[in-house]
Amino acid sequence: MKTRFSSPIAAIAFFVGFLAQAEEVRLYSERHYDADKEVFSEFTDKTGIEVKVVKAGANELIARLKSEKNSPQADLYITSDAASLTKASKAGLLAPLKSELINAAVPQALRGKQDTWAAFTMRGRILVYAKDRVKGQLPKSYQDLASPEYRGNLLIRSSTSKYNRSLLASIIAIQGKAKAIQWATGMKNNFARPPQGNDRDQVRAVAKGIADYAIVNTYYLGLLKNGESQEDRDAHAAVGVVLPTSGDRGTHVNISGGGIIKGAKNSSNARKLLEYLVSEKVQKKYQRLTSEYAVSTKVEHEPLQKAWGEINPDLESIHDLGIYDQEAQKIFNMVGWK
Ligand SMILES: [Fe+2]
Repeated sequence: MKTRFSSPIAAIAFFVGFLAQAEEVRLYSERHYDADKEVFSEFTDKTGIEVKVVKAGANELIARLKSEKNSPQADLYITSDAASLTKASKAGLLAPLKSELINAAVPQALRGKQDTWAAFTMRGRILVYAKDRVKGQLPKSYQDLASPEYRGNLLIRSSTSKYNRSLLASIIAIQGKAKAIQWATGMKNNFARPPQGNDRDQVRAVAKGIADYAIVNTYYLGLLKNGESQEDRDAHAAVGVVLPTSGDRGTHVNISGGGIIKGAKNSSNARKLLEYLVSEKVQKKYQRLTSEYAVSTKVEHEPLQKAWGEINPDLESIHDLGIYDQEAQKIFNMVGWK
C-alpha cells in the first residue's frame, strides 16, 4: 500500500503515531548477561513486543524510579538481588503482579510478600577447594570456615560486593547480630590476602595455590568451565565444590527477579515478559547458558549443577536480605573486612 502525505509535517505525525502504537516493554535492569539479550530477542520474535533495556546499578535505578514516580519511564525493574526488590517494593515503586502463570511456576518463597516481584533465576554462594591439596574432612558450613583451622587459607572478594553483603545479611537473619560479628571477624582473620578481584579471580587463585578455599557464586563455575581461556578451564577443573549449610539452614542463595513498576504504561507487556522468563523453556535456557539455577521446580538441573551436589537452598532468608543489608555493611566496616 502506498501512503501519500499532504505535507512533511503530516508524514512526521503519521510516523510518530506509528511509533506510539508499537508494542514495547521498557526495562531498568542491573543484569549484564548476553543470555538476557538472546532471551529478550526471542520474546520479541514470539510476541512482537520490543524490549528496551536501560542498564545501571540497582540503587541508581531505584533512585531513578523514585524521581520518575509520577511519570514512570520504565515498566519492569530487574535486579540480581532480592534486597533491591524488597527495597523497591517497600518504597511503593512496584505494582502487584497478579499472574497465575507466575504463581504456578515460582515457589512462594521466591516471590515478594506483597506479590510485587518474582524471581526468575537463583544462585548459590558456595565453597570451592583445591582438589589436589585438600584431603580428609571438608568444611560443612560457612560457620566452619571462620574457625582458626583455616587461618591464612581462605579467599573471598571485597565486602563492597553485594554477594557478600547478602551472605552476611542471611547470617544475621539466621544467627543474630552478635554471631554475625563473630563470623565476619573469624573469616577476616582467615584471609590468605586482602580481598581483591571478582569471584572468578578467587577460583583462579585457588588453582594457583594462593589458598585452598574460596567462596564464590555457583554460576561463575559454569562461566570458567565454558571459558575461552584454557587457564580458566584448568582452574575450574582444579576445584571441588561444597554446598555449605548455614546454622540450621541450607546453602545461602540469592536471586535475579523482576517487578512491574507502579503506574507503568506497558504493565501488561511487562507481565508477559516476566511470565516468559519463568516459562519452562526459558528456565532451561538460563540453566544452560548462565549456569544459574531455574526457580521453577519443574525444570531438571543441568549436569554441571548436579555435579555440585543437591542444593538445599536457604529460601527462608530471602525476604530478610533487604532488612539486614545496611547492618551487614556496618559489620564489615567494623571488623575491617575491606
Ligand atoms: Fe555476578
